Formats: sequence, structure tokens, C-alpha cells
Amino acid sequence: MKKLFLLISLSVMAVLPQANAAGPSIELDKAENNLRDQDSLQRGAQLFTNYCMACHSIKYMRYNRIARDIGWTDEEVIAKMSFNQAKVVDDVLTRMEPGVGTEVLGTEPPDLSLMARLKGTDYIYTFLRSYQMDEEGNWDNSVLKGTSMPHVLEGVQRYSSQEEYDQAARDISNFLEYVGEPAKLERHDLGWKVIAFLLFLLLLTWLLKKEYWRDIKH
Ligand code: HEC
Repeated sequence: MKKLFLLISLSVMAVLPQANAAGPSIELDKAENNLRDQDSLQRGAQLFTNYCMACHSIKYMRYNRIARDIGWTDEEVIAKMSFNQAKVVDDVLTRMEPGVGTEVLGTEPPDLSLMARLKGTDYIYTFLRSYQMDEEGNWDNSVLKGTSMPHVLEGVQRYSSQEEYDQAARDISNFLEYVGEPAKLERHDLGWKVIAFLLFLLLLTWLLKKEYWRDIKH
């Protein structure tokens, strides 16, 4: 019994530090995004194109993969995400020339392919909603103080309600979560198919059992 107790407390301890490993604790708001919401993914992709791709790449993605996964044709993805400048097999790269980031912003904007896995979807959602203006009229971000990323969604925020702005941040976070692990979409679907199949099999075996035992007295 003591051993069991020790074992349980050890395994709990092994898990706990991981939960805190994300660094200084910031209260993150829940993105409450939904990877199955294709409209949200499409809106997120468009917002990402218009407001993020000037600086950030998602270089582990290709345009045709995005098209297939979020319900666009090859022509649509190229028109909407690259303004007909790229080919469907191209990686999704930033429009910024190398070196410009360092020159203008003091640092190169990171590739965002794996950012949702690195920092979490809730982090991106909270980060995008945490720009505040100080007394001198400069923007800062309470999640990443002194960040060299400007408040690129300022215009969107100014002309929308809080709910609309939250939704825009949710759509972008949703898209970036998908980008971080594209197979997740298929995996979720596969799970349901497997369960449906097993239920069907259960029904079939039950019917079969009934059939076998029908004429036997028991
Ligand atoms: C004008 C260029 C620019 C644009 C446009 C831009 N970013 Fe950034 N972004 C940066 C830079 C520079 C950094 C590095 C910030 C730092 O380390 O302080 C960054 C960092 C980030 C990070 C990482 C933050 C962290 O904790 O390290 C995320 C997430 C991010 N950007 C998301 C976005 C999203 C989403 C958009 C579009 C809505 C966007 N960015 C648009 C320049 C940009």
C-alpha cells in the first residue's frame, strides 16, 4: 500500500514540473477554437495572409496541402493566399526579404509553422489580444513585454467590436493550430470512423449470436 502511494506521488511529481515549464506564469485566455470549423480555418488563413505573411512564413506548409485540408481548390488557395504569385506546390513563405526584419524591427520574425505547438494555441490567442497603449501612446504587449512585433491588428481592432476582434484572433489561432499539426484534422475524423465501425461490428455480432442461439433451448 505504501509502495503504491509512493508510486502515485512520484508519477504526479513527474507530471507537475511539465505543467509549469512554460515559463513565468501568465494567465492565458482560452481560445475555444474548433479545428472542425472549416469556415473559421478559412477566415484564419485569410487573416493570416493579410496581416501576418508580410513578416512571417509557415514554411513547413505547402499551398496545396492547405487547400485540400481547409476546403479550397488549388486555384482558390493561390488567389487568396499568394495573390497569384506562387505555385500550388510552393512552401508558404513570407513576403519579407531576408535581413529586412533585423534592419527595421531589430529581429527576424520567427517562422510560425510550429508556434502553436511550441507555445500553445491559447498563448497565440491571448498574445494577439494583449496589445495595450501606454501613457505616451506607444503600443506594448502585456504577454511579451517590449516585443518588437508591432500591433499589426490595430486597424482590425479599431473597427470591430470586442466579440468580432476576439473571433478574428480565434480564427488566426485556429489556423495556426492546424498548421502546427495538419494530421490532427484527419486523426479526429479517423477516431469517429473507428468508433462507428466498432459499434456496427458490435451490432452485427449481437445479431449473429441471436441467430445462432435461436433454435437452441437455453
Ligand atoms: C511587421 C512584421 C510582423 C507582422 C506583420 C506580424 N509579426 Fe508576429 N512577430 C514579428 C516579430 C519581429 C516577432 C518577434 C517578436 C519578439 O521576439 O519580440 C514576432 C513574433 C510573433 C510571435 C511569437 C511571440 C513569442 O512569444 O515569441 C507570434 C505568435 C506572432 N508573431 C504571431 C503573429 C501573427 C498571428 C501575425 C498576424 C496577425 C503577426 N505575428 C504579424 C513581426 C511581425
